[in-house]
Amino acid sequence: MKKRLLGGTGERIPVLGMGTWAIGGDLWGPADEATSIRAVRTAVDLGMTLVDTAPIYGSGVSEQVVGKALSGIRDQVFLSTKCGLERVDGSIRKNLSPEAIRAEIDASLTRLGTDHVDLYQCHWPVQDTPVEDTVGVLEEIRDAGKIRFWGLSNYEAPLIEPALAAGQPASLQSEYSLVKRSVEAAELPLCRARGLGFLAYAPMAGGLLTGKYDPDGPPPAFPPADARSFFYTFFSEPGWSEVGPTVRAVMSAARELGVAPGHVAVAWVLAQEGVTCALVGARTPEQAAENARAAEVELTQEIIERIEGAT
Ligand SMILES: NC(=O)c1ccc[n+]([C@@H]2O[C@H](COP(=O)([O-])OP(=O)(O)OC[C@H]3O[C@@H](n4cnc5c(N)ncnc54)[C@H](OP(=O)(O)O)[C@@H]3O)[C@@H](O)[C@H]2O)c1
Repeated sequence: MKKRLLGGTGERIPVLGMGTWAIGGDLWGPADEATSIRAVRTAVDLGMTLVDTAPIYGSGVSEQVVGKALSGIRDQVFLSTKCGLERVDGSIRKNLSPEAIRAEIDASLTRLGTDHVDLYQCHWPVQDTPVEDTVGVLEEIRDAGKIRFWGLSNYEAPLIEPALAAGQPASLQSEYSLVKRSVEAAELPLCRARGLGFLAYAPMAGGLLTGKYDPDGPPPAFPPADARSFFYTFFSEPGWSEVGPTVRAVMSAARELGVAPGHVAVAWVLAQEGVTCALVGARTPEQAAENARAAEVELTQEIIERIEGAT
């Protein structure tokens, strides 16, 4: 698996990371633990040695499953998790206070069965804790050896600047795919200019770009509690009709190249300047094995322009 430098850390990480939101088993329908463990192990065996999780994925379940999957192979993996989202009375609350982070890191380490996390990311920005206080506690737990690097997730450019004034994040993790390109305006250029790694999440748009959904049919009917019915807006109208041309172009390019549509989607993300790694989610070992092959796919400039032109 090809590797790229993660910002200014000196660390080389694989271009494909294994995403574990869905295997939390709450917001994408149920997940079978044994299958999830085999999915993570397959990804790692095939070189996707960055594994990304978060406490909020299944309220700790994803971290526990990842911990079990990495038992005996933890030293082969660059492990990334997050802080700052908690469930209170059934709703999700943002909290990046020093007290919350001190408690969260210890709980994550216990669930993950490890003594340190490689990359610890603020999951979403908050307004009510000064960023200096958040950065201060991240540096405190880094100095204590509980994390190696810290990063940001879902921060827009105006909030990245104050974080950079307070310390040195390793990376930004944000949504980036052929159907969600807003980071190109400010965040991706900022990461390039200021030496932050960029981890692109949902490079296959939550499964939309895998070819499993017919763009000429109606949008899939996910239950209201399924994240795809509210987090990824292109799974319902008017987004569904807007992304149709891109989905068709990706499927057509995949047929032409003799690869899976998801490979084309991920290869497009990896071809964008400043992207360090694409975080690709998988629920089964078969999906993980197919996704790992995306790292070998190169798109010609002509294909890239044709797909982008369809948008
Ligand atoms: N920081 C954040 O706020 C944030 C937000 C979202 C995601 N993330 C991270 O990024 C990771 C990736 O994002 P994502 O999982 O939302 O989206 P994604 O990687 O674009 O899509 C993953 C989903 O597509 C389907 N799939 C995967 N491989 C497939 C294959 N080979 N064939 C057919 N279907 C396949 C699976 O769902 P089905 O089998 O159910 O179709 C899988 O859960 C997450 O797991 C998480 O680690 C972070």
